[in-house]
Amino acid sequence: SWNSDSVIAEQVERIRAQVGDARVISALSGGVDSAVSTALVHKAIGDQLTAVFVDHGLLRAGEREQVEQDYVASTGVRLITVDAADTFLGHLEGVTDPEAKRKIIGREFIRAFEKVQRELVAEAAASGDAPIKFLVQGTLYPDVVESGGGAGTANIKSHHNVGGLPDDLDFALIEPLRTLFKDEVRAIGRELGIPEAIVGRQPFPGPGLGIRIIGEVTRDRLEILRAADAIARAELTAAGLDGEIWQCPVVLLADVHSVGVQGDHRTYGHPIVLRPVSSEDAMTADWTRLPYDVLSKISNRITNEVRDVNRVVLDVTSKPPGTIEWE
Ligand code: XMP
Repeated sequence: SWNSDSVIAEQVERIRAQVGDARVISALSGGVDSAVSTALVHKAIGDQLTAVFVDHGLLRAGEREQVEQDYVASTGVRLITVDAADTFLGHLEGVTDPEAKRKIIGREFIRAFEKVQRELVAEAAASGDAPIKFLVQGTLYPDVVESGGGAGTANIKSHHNVGGLPDDLDFALIEPLRTLFKDEVRAIGRELGIPEAIVGRQPFPGPGLGIRIIGEVTRDRLEILRAADAIARAELTAAGLDGEIWQCPVVLLADVHSVGVQGDHRTYGHPIVLRPVSSEDAMTADWTRLPYDVLSKISNRITNEVRDVNRVVLDVTSKPPGTIEWE
């Protein structure tokens, strides 16, 4: 039967054998998967690993701080943060197609890593350290299957952590979670001592808020979505509902305007969509029947506190036919 201790022991052996005395960099994204895969590789090879956190400007409120402070404190992982928001948003300018967004974001991730890799290689050469040859990715089994890399299924979405890699990649991948489902990854994370706030966190897609803005991604729209998302998350947590929800994407319909009224004024703002889902593994999902009072509170707060939003709507679609994310 499945057991997190034996998976950890097995992966540690496998990683050590694969890596030898080379050095490794890790794709830390802020999510559970990369946090756990990085901690697992750190357990196997310690300071041969350097974790790189690319702030692509598509993160939710507080996520960067959580990685830089809480995660580093609990794991001891060596971390480099790259400020890449300008680069990512520059390349996303004028782009509205979801797959095009994913490809751009995936490509820019790799570029950012390669840049850091080159800097670390130069450093290693100067100090006589071993070269960096591997990249860690937090790919899970459902990602592999949905990207068509698994059991011969159709390509539904090209998840950027599987499908978006360029062919001329000059490092090999370490993917220690490739056969696992989310609940198994969480169990391993707890076993490795990662704080509950990170391990218990809802899944968040690699392309981040970039695929939760329907339309072009801009700094202004990101600010609006970030504020709405922070309110929804805070109220769901305050209501004690985190355990019942697999994840709750908050989506900004940036190209849709709807008429509203506030005081004596007619407004012409955007709708925010709440997409709370219950799921075992993200392959299928049902919409979560949230209490009306919680929905009401979230709606009131978002429409009162977030500029340019005058409407909150609830997505009541299961998966299939709807995917969890809107893009
Ligand atoms: P969908 O929308 O396909 O999502 O039902 C299934 C799960 O995958 C997450 N997701 C992604 N994760 N890169 C990721 O790392 C992506 O491009 C991506 N797209 C969707 C989604 O949040 C859900 O948990």
